[in-house]
Amino acid sequence: MARQKWGSRWAFVLAAVGSAAGLGNAWRFPYMAYSNGGGAFYVPYFIALFLVGIPLLMAEFAIGQGLQSSAPKSMAIIRKNAEFIGWFAVIGGAIITFYYNVIMAYIFNYLYYSFGVAWKDDPNGFFFGKFLQVSSGPGELGSIRWPIVIGLALTWLWIYFILRKGTTSVGKTVAWTVPLPVVLLLILGIRGITLDGAAKGLNFLFEPNFAKLADPRVWANAFGQIFFTLSLAFGIMIAYGSYNKKEEDIANNAIITALGNSATSYLAGIAVFSVLGYMATQLSVPVDKVVSGGIGLAFVVYPQAISLFPGGVVVQSIIGLLFFLMLLTLGIDSAFSLVEAVEAAASDKFKVNKKAFLIGFSIFGFLAGLLFSTQGGLYWLDIIDHFVSVYGLLIAGILESIIIGWLFGAEKLRKYINEVSEIKIGKWFNFSIKFLIPAVLIIILGLNFFDELK
Ligand code: PHE
Repeated sequence: MARQKWGSRWAFVLAAVGSAAGLGNAWRFPYMAYSNGGGAFYVPYFIALFLVGIPLLMAEFAIGQGLQSSAPKSMAIIRKNAEFIGWFAVIGGAIITFYYNVIMAYIFNYLYYSFGVAWKDDPNGFFFGKFLQVSSGPGELGSIRWPIVIGLALTWLWIYFILRKGTTSVGKTVAWTVPLPVVLLLILGIRGITLDGAAKGLNFLFEPNFAKLADPRVWANAFGQIFFTLSLAFGIMIAYGSYNKKEEDIANNAIITALGNSATSYLAGIAVFSVLGYMATQLSVPVDKVVSGGIGLAFVVYPQAISLFPGGVVVQSIIGLLFFLMLLTLGIDSAFSLVEAVEAAASDKFKVNKKAFLIGFSIFGFLAGLLFSTQGGLYWLDIIDHFVSVYGLLIAGILESIIIGWLFGAEKLRKYINEVSEIKIGKWFNFSIKFLIPAVLIIILGLNFFDELK
């Protein structure tokens, strides 16, 4: 059977941007920028983007497109015994789906409870106590939280329907799930910057603290953020590239994907930090007292800010709906891209029936997600996330760049990219893939490991 193909160039580009722009853009990026030197963070950020992010994105597109294969099969074509590297990446991604979809489940719940701003009196208690009853400790294994389970089931069903008809149904989905969150971010951003105190919040995001650049961790964070945000090293971009025609442009598509993703991050940063500035003003506390990263930002701090919004409960409900709809549509394309990478790998290897595999994997993923839908779920989620998105990603990235750079050959790949692309890539590409990327990733791995021992 011929390999499925994207319906158009834009279906592919939107799917790639959709995978890249996810929950990480909305809560990881703003927090990273804030805690790593504000405006100064953009120096290492853009260096990382252009020196390693875009080259590796091009390499992943090119490998998938040139070899017309998913990650494990591509690796096996390059060298028989390298297949495991592809599997390592894809399985890491599969584990991410198990908990990424639990976060999607939280979002479904908040969307529902935006009506009437159910968390209004006590946002912290709403998340941790009364309603989701997520605890910060390990909790008890049997303590399933049913509202989360319902959201989880909805998420997996949605993913199944999006992937069911492959590139055709994905193409139809990304035509709205990628632009919609951007429009919503624009609306939220405009409302945000017109609130009292917005500038105070934005200062935290943009005022540069150049002294921070002397800290190697700031650099490690920037490089880590670029890898995570571009969905690199989980076999996703290889799978997506493999549904292109061999003659499809690579360089341009990678640049559009990367810049579209960064633009989404900036919009999110503005939308979130302007509101944090307003909130600090309302509560008469310094901005840094209200900032938090990760889950707390999306499910405690921002909801609390919503309940301070001027205009009463109707306006607040609408802002809540817009915000959580934004998160839901932002996250869904990242969530299903991870599943598609697994599906592509499995069907290349075992010639399985696509639909049967998807049904089986969705049920399995749903059941695995139940572990994170218990009272202590968030505690376990944090631990697993740390291992997969730090160690899994770094190790997969190191191995992948070595295989592509040295065994396949960076120069051979560069020639292929230049044959099909409008923009021509210089020899610096080879240097990046062969030396820079593995070196940088090894240093970050070392820094992380060192921090672990402290
Ligand atoms: N790029 C996504 C984000 O920023 C996260 C992600 C990472 C998705 C790895 C898939 C794989 O949220």
